[in-house]
Amino acid sequence: MPAKQVTVKAPATSANLGPGFDVFGIALEEPSDKVTLTSVSQGIRIQISGIGARTISLTPDKNTAGLVAKRMLSDFNLKTGLLIHVEKGIFPGKGLGSSAASAAAVAFGMNAMFNLGLNNKQLISYAAKGEVASAGSEHADNVSAAICGNFVLIRSYHPLEIVNLECPKDLELAVAMPKIITPPNKTEKARSVIPKLVPLEKHVYNLGKAAAMITGFAIGDVNLIGESMIDEIVEPARASLIPGYAKVKENALKAGALGVTISGAGPSMIAIVNKNTGDSAKIALAMQEGFRTAGLDSHAFATRPGRGACLLEMKP
Ligand code: HSE
Repeated sequence: MPAKQVTVKAPATSANLGPGFDVFGIALEEPSDKVTLTSVSQGIRIQISGIGARTISLTPDKNTAGLVAKRMLSDFNLKTGLLIHVEKGIFPGKGLGSSAASAAAVAFGMNAMFNLGLNNKQLISYAAKGEVASAGSEHADNVSAAICGNFVLIRSYHPLEIVNLECPKDLELAVAMPKIITPPNKTEKARSVIPKLVPLEKHVYNLGKAAAMITGFAIGDVNLIGESMIDEIVEPARASLIPGYAKVKENALKAGALGVTISGAGPSMIAIVNKNTGDSAKIALAMQEGFRTAGLDSHAFATRPGRGACLLEMKP
């Protein structure tokens, strides 16, 4: 018997983490989105409240949550309609996996609501379909982290294979989110500037950093993780899209961050901090100061790696 209503929470995430373009993702303890699914007689209707709600399309085919719901209703031949209420806690268009959180929450929520018995990999595949609405492609780094929590790496896209690792307890994150208006197709645009061909030496450089970062997660070495957060391929191509980029980076490193990079497709920046040697709240403020030098206000905060999507309430 399907439930009448479920409410799910899904976290913000940061993709790439420097060398892991489209492969690495990490879930943040906060902020998060809350999504309530209610079964109705027919159709898909979307309501959005909270941060940045007015910037998001309510048309199911253009909305990340709507795309996931439509596909799952059809694939599982579910003879019902769905009212999707998204309470945005994650600002859209800032590189913190806002669309992914809503997509992941819908996949997770429908699995619970209709008792579909899907595993994480299947949920990720469905949630990734929602990313087409905002990014133009089914990249799965954000949605994987939003479903699984902690650190994820995508071992393969076809077929989808994920590795999920715990984060060391001393790892903290500092984030600065500039208050600039980003176009709805921001991620698509930020993807269009990436070089299609990569010189071998840059590939070798990034591969070394990526391998070292995974080793850091595997053995719980925060310093190895943070010091490996360098990208010679995608980040240089995107840096000019972010006013104040160089200063934010410089300030974070000077304030004690181990590594700093663009969060997802930007414009937010994220730093890795070892809580024994750095103060993540102070580092976030230093990053905010960096954006200020470019004339931008920003929201800066410290957080930690977090868990994946979870069920808050289920009404029969
Ligand atoms: N890996 C994706 C990108 C994340 O960097 O384009 C977008 O959120």
